[in-house]
Amino acid sequence: MMKTIFPGQTIGIIGGGQLGRMMALAAKEAGFKIAVLEPTMDSPCGQVADIRIVAPYNDETALEELAEVSDVITFEFENIDYDGLKRLTEIAYVPQGAELIKITQDRIQEKITISQSDCPIANYIACQNFNELVQNIEKVGYPCIVKTARGGYDGKGQQTIYSADDLELASPLFEHSACVAEAFVPFTKEISVIVQRNVQGETYCLPIGENIHVNHILHETIVPARINNKTAKLAVEAAEKIADYLQLIGTLAVEMFVLEDGTIVINELAPRPHNSGHYSIEACNISQFHQHIRAICGWPLRKPKLWSPSVMVNILGQHVMPVTNSLSKYPDWSIHLYGKQQAKKNRKMGHVTIMTDDLDHTIKEINDSAIWAE
Ligand SMILES: Nc1ncnc2c1ncn2[C@@H]1O[C@H](COP(=O)(O)OP(=O)(O)O)[C@@H](O)[C@H]1O
Ligand SMILES: [Mg+2]
Repeated sequence: MMKTIFPGQTIGIIGGGQLGRMMALAAKEAGFKIAVLEPTMDSPCGQVADIRIVAPYNDETALEELAEVSDVITFEFENIDYDGLKRLTEIAYVPQGAELIKITQDRIQEKITISQSDCPIANYIACQNFNELVQNIEKVGYPCIVKTARGGYDGKGQQTIYSADDLELASPLFEHSACVAEAFVPFTKEISVIVQRNVQGETYCLPIGENIHVNHILHETIVPARINNKTAKLAVEAAEKIADYLQLIGTLAVEMFVLEDGTIVINELAPRPHNSGHYSIEACNISQFHQHIRAICGWPLRKPKLWSPSVMVNILGQHVMPVTNSLSKYPDWSIHLYGKQQAKKNRKMGHVTIMTDDLDHTIKEINDSAIWAE
């Protein structure tokens, strides 16, 4: 079943965070209405939605209510209850399907899928419990990173292991879920490719972003990524291969490591618009959010084009005051704040995008700025 969704019709979004908010803002431009399912009352997406359903993501009655009011349903995060989503696909139009969620919410399934689509990943083992980790760790060696299979984000649910003496540190992770242990990848850069595909099968990738993490949280994305053509080609080919294997509809962000020799290793997938694609709101002829809405609504996709080199920098809780106090100094910065009440440390509160003719200068300006000192 393939449908075209028209302005005036309602897009339902599961999840009320900033990704939902930016999807909603893009959709509202074209005259769509937005319904959001989110357990908190005052959410970033709820603030801009037409209809708010305040309930847990897996609440059956709430999902039925969302189905009732929506002409098409999408999601802004991957940790949705698979069975709930599966049931939803039977009573509502969910073009992205539920399988994409099943795969990307579990690192073990995700790694199997990436391998099956013939793309390189770090050597890894899957472990159901701590004992299995201890028994099999030889197969990956040290250093390695143990990650919970489910529910991790921004480096949460991860433990780096440098030697057998550290193994015990990974034990608490198993209280949460099964884990993977993967070899430490000696990368020179991290990049991401956001690939988007509509119900008709049209596929486009956004320009490749180079991602710099601080304390495991994305700090800035530099576009275009400073990689050679060969690496760029490998990256796009890999993202398209995975999208094709998954018969993707919607958006898939593919995080990758670049090695010294210019080859790539796939790190992880996100089945939704991604923090590293926020630059596209200003810096491209089509943002990842507009393209996502087009994809799920059965509209033709637009071939992405970068207007200008750009840097996107995240505004975490501790950066909100320094950024707002510096507004007058940086008229060229596009400031996005997501409407979250509490500026907790390391919480993603917003981002700035800076389009620039001189990437090196802008990167240096950000590095030297007191705003992001903490
Ligand atoms: N195998 C690895 N080798 C080296 N660094 C890694 C590896 N896995 C993760 N990292 C580092 O940790 C960051 C967060 O890990 P990731 O798997 O992307 O989890 P999250 O879901 O928290 O984004 C990565 O962006 C990278 O900087
Ligand atoms: Mg990641």
